[in-house]
Amino acid sequence: MSKTQLFDLDGKIAFVSGASRGIGEAIAKLLAQQGAHVIVSSRKLDGCQQVADAIIAEGGKATAIACHIGEMEQIQQVFAALREQFGRLDILVNNAATNPQFCNVLDTDLGAFQKTVDVNIRGYFFMSVEAGKLMREHGGGSIINVASINGISPGIFQGIYSVTKAAVINMTKVFAKECAQFGIRCNALLPGLTDTKFASALVKNDAILNTALAQIPLKRVAAPSEMAGTVLYLASDASSYTTGVALNVDGGFLS
Ligand SMILES: NC(=O)c1ccc[n+]([C@@H]2O[C@H](COP(=O)([O-])OP(=O)(O)OC[C@H]3O[C@@H](n4cnc5c(N)ncnc54)[C@H](OP(=O)(O)O)[C@@H]3O)[C@@H](O)[C@H]2O)c1
Repeated sequence: MSKTQLFDLDGKIAFVSGASRGIGEAIAKLLAQQGAHVIVSSRKLDGCQQVADAIIAEGGKATAIACHIGEMEQIQQVFAALREQFGRLDILVNNAATNPQFCNVLDTDLGAFQKTVDVNIRGYFFMSVEAGKLMREHGGGSIINVASINGISPGIFQGIYSVTKAAVINMTKVFAKECAQFGIRCNALLPGLTDTKFASALVKNDAILNTALAQIPLKRVAAPSEMAGTVLYLASDASSYTTGVALNVDGGFLS
């Protein structure tokens, strides 16, 4: 009896935004472990190069490319580079997001609002448009959007961030419906509280952490690596009939 090949990514090209640390780094490493050539991306090249070097040191394939997904010109430039260097893209993981202001919704600053929308909605949207065009030329692919449980149940003092994550869940369904005809699947991962720099203000504050843990049936926060398996499933043939779904990986928080 042979082992399943359903999770093999040999020969696939995968782009992971926000892959220099946290959840994106864990995703990049797992996809590379399964055989994909991973493009490790974030705003700062140094951090990406370190992750790419670690993947290569383990025998995997990786390339570091800087891209600020809130800047339209940078999205255009990165896809021009991808066309030139690889000529195709099989997997896009939209993972990089921002949450610059932690406050009551009535105190939302216009600059923070704009930045959150530009990165979390416009960035995910046009990264998916460019990836979708490239995938369409080669018979399909898989887009995975890292949203959040806050897209279903808004986080306290995370107003506009939660709004953008709800938009990402809807965006996932839009791309799933309109791009299925091109062989492109699009699904979302909804992480619960995960121990990363992004969540450090929550995880390192005992009062906030204990309130959060009281609402999490598994009674702990997630490690970044616990998000990566779901992305591998959504990226691979194991999920070949799955599109338009939002998968909660939240220790039971939303149940
Ligand atoms: N941690 C949680 O509890 C949690 C819960 C639910 C959802 N999420 C979601 O999970 C995803 C990853 O979060 P994380 O916790 O892993 O965060 P993290 O550890 O802070 O990592 C964020 C990554 O995104 C990059 N980045 C930030 N802004 C960017 C931009 N404008 N363009 C390109 N790259 C950018 C960062 O690198 P540079 O600084 O080099 O750009 C870094 O690689 C996000 O979508 C977040 O909303 C996290």
